[in-house]
Amino acid sequence: MVCIVIALGGSLLRPEVDDRHAWLEELIIIVRDRVSAGDRIGLVIGGGAPAREGIGLAQPLIDDVHHLDKIGIAATRLNATIVREALSDAGISVSGTIPHRVDEAVQLLESRPVVVMGGTTPGHTTDTVAIRFAIATSANRCIIATNVGKVYSADPRNNSNADAFDKLTHDELQEIVGPDKHTRAGGSSVVDPVGVGEANRANMTLNILDGRETNLIKAALEGNDFKGTTIITEEN
Ligand code: UTP
Repeated sequence: MVCIVIALGGSLLRPEVDDRHAWLEELIIIVRDRVSAGDRIGLVIGGGAPAREGIGLAQPLIDDVHHLDKIGIAATRLNATIVREALSDAGISVSGTIPHRVDEAVQLLESRPVVVMGGTTPGHTTDTVAIRFAIATSANRCIIATNVGKVYSADPRNNSNADAFDKLTHDELQEIVGPDKHTRAGGSSVVDPVGVGEANRANMTLNILDGRETNLIKAALEGNDFKGTTIITEEN
C-alpha cells in the first residue's frame, strides 16, 4: 500500500489560477483514481488568499507572530473545508472532520483512505504539517505542490540567472530556504524551512512541483516524472 501526503499551497485556490474550478475537478479525479488503486492520501491545504487578507488586516495591530499565525491557521482550515466538502460531494471516502493535530490525522487515515487538514499550531506553515503527517504515517514521500516549477538557487522573479534544480539534498535545500526557524506569519519561501529541517532529520523524501499543473500532481502520486525537484539524502 502506498501512503502519500501532499501539501497543496493555498495559492492554488486563488482567483489568478487560470481556472480554479477545473483545477479542483481535476484534483478530485486524481484523488478518486488513487483511492481506487488502493493508496492512502493525506491532503494538507494552505491558507492562500484568505490567510494573506486576514494577516494583512491584523498586522498593523498585532506584533506577536504566533497571534498572526492563528489567523493564518483559520484560513488554512477554511480552505481545507472547501477541499474536503468537494471530495465528499464527489463520493470519495474522505474523513468527516478536519483534524486539528497530526496524531488525530494519522488516526483518521487508518479508517479512511483520504484525510484533509489545514494548519495545526503556530510556528510553521502547512508544508511542515504535511511533512510531520508524512513522517508520522511513514509515508512513501511527501509532495509539496506549490506555484513554481522547481527549486531555484535564488528567486527567479528577481534573478534571471537563478539555476533550477532537478535534485537536491535536504542540506542543500536548507541552505537555499534558510535556517529552520519561523520568523514571520504568512512568510513564503518555496518550502517552509522548519519542515525542511524535520524532513532532513527523518530522512523523508520531498517532491516539490508546480501544483497548478494537475498532471504533475498525478505523475508524482504515481511515482512518475513530475518535472520538479526531488529532495533526498545523499546516501540515496
Ligand atoms: P500556509 O501554509 O498557507 O503558508 O499558512 P504560506 O507559506 O504563508 O503560504 P503558501 O504556502 O503560499 O500557501 C499560512 C500561514 O498560517 C500560519 C503561518 O503564519 C503561515 O504563514 N500557520 C499555518 C501556522 O502558524 N501553523 C500552521 O500549522 C499552518
